[in-house]
Amino acid sequence: MKKIAVITSGGDAPGMNACIRAIVNTAWQEGIDVIGFRHGFRGIVENLAQPLHPDDMRLVSQRGGTFLKSARYPEFRDAATAEAAAKQLDAHGISALIVIGGDGSFRGAHHLTKYWPKQVIGVPGTIDNDLTGTDVAIGFSTAVDTAVEAIDRVRETAEAMARVFIIEVMGRRAGFIGLHAAIASAAEAMILPEMEPQPKLANLADNIRQARKKFPDSSYIVILSENLWPGGVHGLAESLSQATGTTCHPCPLGHIQRGGRPNAQDRILAMQLGQAAVAAILKGSNDIMVGFANKQVVEVPISRTFERDKPLNQGLVDLQFGLQGVNFTSKNGR
Ligand code: F6P
Repeated sequence: MKKIAVITSGGDAPGMNACIRAIVNTAWQEGIDVIGFRHGFRGIVENLAQPLHPDDMRLVSQRGGTFLKSARYPEFRDAATAEAAAKQLDAHGISALIVIGGDGSFRGAHHLTKYWPKQVIGVPGTIDNDLTGTDVAIGFSTAVDTAVEAIDRVRETAEAMARVFIIEVMGRRAGFIGLHAAIASAAEAMILPEMEPQPKLANLADNIRQARKKFPDSSYIVILSENLWPGGVHGLAESLSQATGTTCHPCPLGHIQRGGRPNAQDRILAMQLGQAAVAAILKGSNDIMVGFANKQVVEVPISRTFERDKPLNQGLVDLQFGLQGVNFTSKNGR
């Protein structure tokens, strides 16, 4: 009987469990056995194997995180570690490995194909949504929902107290969460890694000053992507406080954005991609990611996925700039 393996790797993403369910149940229909290795690539090397059966999959889809556990495992870059993983996979009689993860995990997956002449298939699971070749990744939609819910809460207290908040969202080096969260929360400003040139402190401060002058009774929210400003959100808040003479409160949302129940959209996406991953194995694909582009399942060479050139939707960027530009237009004269 054919036997395949699945791992979840790198930062967990809501919907990973639903994807594992789809893989296990689809494979079972095809007479294929599935095992998982806990903690991603490290689990393969350390032989943390776990048999997976449809019977155990009934109640996993609604849970966030990953019941298979995950890990960051930079050691996998070494040839000897990848060879050790290849040996373990062979010892288990595995003919294909599915890796659910983001760019770091896909680098690992591509690396493994050099030492293991079987099939390696990637499924995009990252809240950052930064993988080239797929419009969406598992977990992104839920992370945006979570961020927006948190920002809405900050907005209420900010509005009540007429305060300025700088809210930091995740994304590593990509502004997808920041852009979507800024639009949905009707933010007054956003700072994303893709913005060229990066906004200047003087301009940001100027906008805040003007807004405070016109509407001293209102809140003002800036969405900042992580890893952008020296000193992060605390550094920016301090500089803006000094430049404006108004206290700007830093609020990093952090890992709150990565946890929580996957929303319906992420569960459905995860199940579609899980099923597509098994279909890709059956037709003999290797070293590819299954993704979604223009509402269709696509296969993308895995080495293409981590090139870091996925653009933001310019229409959405323009939408936010257009709307935030008139947030503080006074009724008394245009
Ligand atoms: O998984 C993606 C991500 O959440 C990024 O948005 C963030 O930069 C990073 O992971 C944080 O990683 P860790 O939890 O390992 O610190």
